[in-house]
Amino acid sequence: MRFEHTSVMPKEVHEYQNLKPGDICVDCTLGGSGHALSTIKAILPNGKLIGIDQDMDAIENAKKILSPFEKNIQLFHSNFASLPEILRSSGIHGVNSILLDLGFSFNQLVNSRRGFSFNKNEPLDMRMDIRTSLTAKQIVNTYEEKDLVNIFFKFGEEKFSRKITRAIIRNRAQAPIETSEELAQIIVDATPAKQAFKQKIHPATRVFQALRIEVNQELTLLETFMESLPSLLVKGGRVCVISFHSLEDRIVKHSLRKFENGCTCPREFPQCMCGFVPQIRSISKKPLIPTQAEIDANPMARSAKLRVAEKL
Ligand SMILES: C[S@@+](CC[C@H](N)C(=O)[O-])C[C@H]1O[C@@H](n2cnc3c(N)ncnc32)[C@H](O)[C@@H]1O
Repeated sequence: MRFEHTSVMPKEVHEYQNLKPGDICVDCTLGGSGHALSTIKAILPNGKLIGIDQDMDAIENAKKILSPFEKNIQLFHSNFASLPEILRSSGIHGVNSILLDLGFSFNQLVNSRRGFSFNKNEPLDMRMDIRTSLTAKQIVNTYEEKDLVNIFFKFGEEKFSRKITRAIIRNRAQAPIETSEELAQIIVDATPAKQAFKQKIHPATRVFQALRIEVNQELTLLETFMESLPSLLVKGGRVCVISFHSLEDRIVKHSLRKFENGCTCPREFPQCMCGFVPQIRSISKKPLIPTQAEIDANPMARSAKLRVAEKL
């Protein structure tokens, strides 16, 4: 399988990770291993990189790309929400750097044959981890109308959610919707032609994104991960999170703010009763974004936002 590793914001990530030889690092989303490769080079000769991906293809690829550094890496086919258990089982009490580069990889879009792309005719699957059970086909063919509308509107910000859902319901009453091409055509037919013409993106972009988020429970797992964040870093350790969706960025922003503020008592309390103290500080108040040159070279980077924080 041909794997690409066009990493998003590589220079910025490298700068803000602030790595030194001997560091223990985690790449929670190996993908094509581009960021992982740059991380491992910065922590040699005796540093350690823990690499995680829920997609077995990414793990197989990482084994090849990172093979010269075999002694310094440990790979896990797992979900990053399980990082606390992974570290515990490896006897690690805290790490110097954690990277999350969220969403899906170029390889999943182009080579996985799992229906991530509306430009291909593939089974409607969209699972990043094929050990899980929920598929896009199941969602499209069995979810109730109100749930489909909700998912398309919330995760895809699709303004024709109702129209598209009604078209899906009509089509699935005839025969199950099986492929990415069939679904894309239903969406194109349901989108008012004038609006479709005006949009800069393919009319199916938002619905496909929403389905992928639902299939992989992306937001829930990110929330679970963020809850455990401070306990995973050593003092001065850094987390870098690249998100591609406003809901993801909101989860990251709010979690970081909560750990940065500490006390959660209502303002009118004369003294703190909750006992929470600040645990991290944000390195950049506003998220960093890619340069125009990077977006021109890699349009998949266009909505990327990088947030960085440090453990106190
Ligand atoms: C944008 S790609 C990462 C690209 C990578 N940083 C590079 O330099 O090539 C995102 C990867 O994260 C993985 N992923 C997404 N959510 C995950 C999760 N909750 N747990 C583990 N891996 C996840 C996907 O399978 C995908 O391979």
